[in-house]
Amino acid sequence: MEFFTHSTLLEMECPIPVTDELVKMVAEGVFDAAVGDIAIVTNRTKIVDFTQPFIASGLVILAPIKNTKSSAWIILQPLTVEMWCVTAASFVLMGVVIWILEHRLNDDFRGPPKRQLATIFLFSFSTMFKATKEQIVSALGRLVIIVWLFVLMVIKASYTASLTSILTVKQLSSPVTGIEDLVASNWPIGYQVGSFVPGYLVENFNIARSKLVSLGTPEDYERALRQGPIKGGVAAIIDERPYVELFLSKQTEFGIVGQPLSKSGWGFAFEKNSPLAVDMSTEILRLSETGELQKIYKKWFCRKGCFTEKIQQSKSNQLPLSSFMGLFLFCSFFLLIAILIFLLQTVCQFVRCKRMQMDPSSSSSSTSSESFSSRCSQVMRNYFSFIDKKEDTIKKMFKHNSHPESQASSSGV
Ligand code: GLY
Repeated sequence: MEFFTHSTLLEMECPIPVTDELVKMVAEGVFDAAVGDIAIVTNRTKIVDFTQPFIASGLVILAPIKNTKSSAWIILQPLTVEMWCVTAASFVLMGVVIWILEHRLNDDFRGPPKRQLATIFLFSFSTMFKATKEQIVSALGRLVIIVWLFVLMVIKASYTASLTSILTVKQLSSPVTGIEDLVASNWPIGYQVGSFVPGYLVENFNIARSKLVSLGTPEDYERALRQGPIKGGVAAIIDERPYVELFLSKQTEFGIVGQPLSKSGWGFAFEKNSPLAVDMSTEILRLSETGELQKIYKKWFCRKGCFTEKIQQSKSNQLPLSSFMGLFLFCSFFLLIAILIFLLQTVCQFVRCKRMQMDPSSSSSSTSSESFSSRCSQVMRNYFSFIDKKEDTIKKMFKHNSHPESQASSSGV
């Protein structure tokens, strides 16, 4: 078997075929095999047999990136707008629920309306710093507070983690955020000369060929990206990940933006049904399993330090409401249960109280003259004034009614 490398072809004054041509030459039997950075793509697998991929590849977008300026409102960034709104609403709701549960028992939650309103807000917001002046005395109130403190602990921990990462990780941004921006605009897009990328972009994204600019060397990449679309350069370059990673290992002003366009690998091409392809695949798999392939990758691609994903979507650190939905539902469930138990207790007491106070003669006269709705509103008013009373007063009244003789003797009647 004879080997033709780039240099032997140059010595023979043969033009170096681009990868597509090389694959065609293998298919036509000019060469037995082609060994190199050959992407395994559908058009090629139709005409040649590929080995197992020896490196993961796929198309990515390379674009200039810049540091986002630190903002005075960075403290708001960890949570999304919806999350801030729902958190603030939860504070108010929790204050109101605690007020309802404590109002009948606790003097801290009684007094003039303005003071009570202030207590609702101050109490719920001071739970954030565990600095509540008021004591919770009801069992239901304690249950709600325990659940609320748990919710608060999770939100506080997540906020702190997110703010820390926002402040410590360099935030990078690019005007190009994905292929959609490139498809929608008229900006020129770069690609590596001889690559299958133009055909792929035209076929899959309907991008006009006139927008595509071929670039030959890493220096061309750098120059075109620096110039940008306005000064005759390109907005972004679409290329295979290993080339881009190699380029980025020496560059700091550029990065991979958006999602990868495709996922594939590089393999060696053989004529259809060549037994060599199977042998080669077995050997590649063996190298991969022993970790040798990874070492080779590190040696050639990480000489100046391995590339790490540089682009961070500025929103990726924000905590969305959806992540906390379960937590809020859990808290709402307990609030609802506490309120239902409270309603059940107070309605039972109210009914009992009304029965005790019932004067049959006056009751029958009022039922005949009043409409149903006015009776309902009367009952509601009575109920609200009933739950506005201190529970001690109600209990004393029950005691008094259940032992009238002892009450009479104690009062000297
Ligand atoms: N890696 C270049 C190509 O396969 O076209």
